[in-house]
Amino acid sequence: MSDESDNASCLDSGDSASSDDSVPIHRRKDDATGDSAGQDGDAGPDEGGGQDDAAVTDEGGGGFFNRPVRTYVIRAGRMTESERRNYEELHQVWCIPFEHRTLNFAEIFGNTNPVTIEVGFGMGQATAQIAAEHPDMNYLGIEVHVPGVGRLLGEIKKRQLKNLFIIEHDALEILEAMIPDGSIEAFHIFFPDPWPKKKHHKRRLMQRPRTELLASKLIAGGYLYFVTDWEEYAQSALAELEATEGLSNKYADFAPHQDWRPRTKFEQKGLDADREIRELFFVKDEA
Ligand SMILES: C[S@@+](CC[C@H](N)C(=O)[O-])C[C@H]1O[C@@H](n2cnc3c(N)ncnc32)[C@H](O)[C@@H]1O
Repeated sequence: MSDESDNASCLDSGDSASSDDSVPIHRRKDDATGDSAGQDGDAGPDEGGGQDDAAVTDEGGGGFFNRPVRTYVIRAGRMTESERRNYEELHQVWCIPFEHRTLNFAEIFGNTNPVTIEVGFGMGQATAQIAAEHPDMNYLGIEVHVPGVGRLLGEIKKRQLKNLFIIEHDALEILEAMIPDGSIEAFHIFFPDPWPKKKHHKRRLMQRPRTELLASKLIAGGYLYFVTDWEEYAQSALAELEATEGLSNKYADFAPHQDWRPRTKFEQKGLDADREIRELFFVKDEA
């Protein structure tokens, strides 16, 4: 399997030619759930993060098609029946399609509360809990793992959340195409794929220029909160964030645990394997 199979987004219209500069909440008819069929059970996103060589091809080095280096792999697998049902019933209401158009958050959420983006929410349990506990904040969850999208849609319905929407697409492309500069209160990045092998480090999310792209989207005083159980990734992310213009570390080096953050599925895996949890909390400088 190639890690560069096309994104399984059911919502990617592929239409980049619109002149409208805001995105209303779409109730799309052109559901293309085909890619989600056959994805892996409810086991959640694969923890490999590049540990499985067979699943990873090196690309993006100016090859024939000059494909971008992705920070994720789309894994084959199945959705559970409830994830599939949630996905089919709810994605047109709570998923925003990827398009080359700037999002209008006031229109999406119906208010001007601050917006937090979570990149790679996995199965979304922490995402739903944080949104439920902070009704005066808005949340945008980004994930490419279709069963996780189905699972989080179910949580949104069950908890009747009004402050959480999902985009199923590559977060970096979303940031570039849809998110205005200086518009985001916070980024939550919990246990991103660590890509432990040196030849895969280029896939890591927490490195420049990706951290610079994230920083450009934050409002002054906004924050980027990153957590990992992979020590070497934590050290390299610390160095990359320190070197990212416009961001300052709120703490001397690693941050203390933020009490409001629920434990995630991948955090539990790290703890089960006796790995230390490392947290980084960087704040966007005043202009
Ligand atoms: C190791 S899992 C962690 C999931 C969850 N945050 C947790 O702690 O349990 C990393 C997740 O990030 C997602 N991901 C990685 N890069 C992404 C990107 N560029 N856009 C959207 N999702 C991404 C993967 O699909 C995967 O589900």
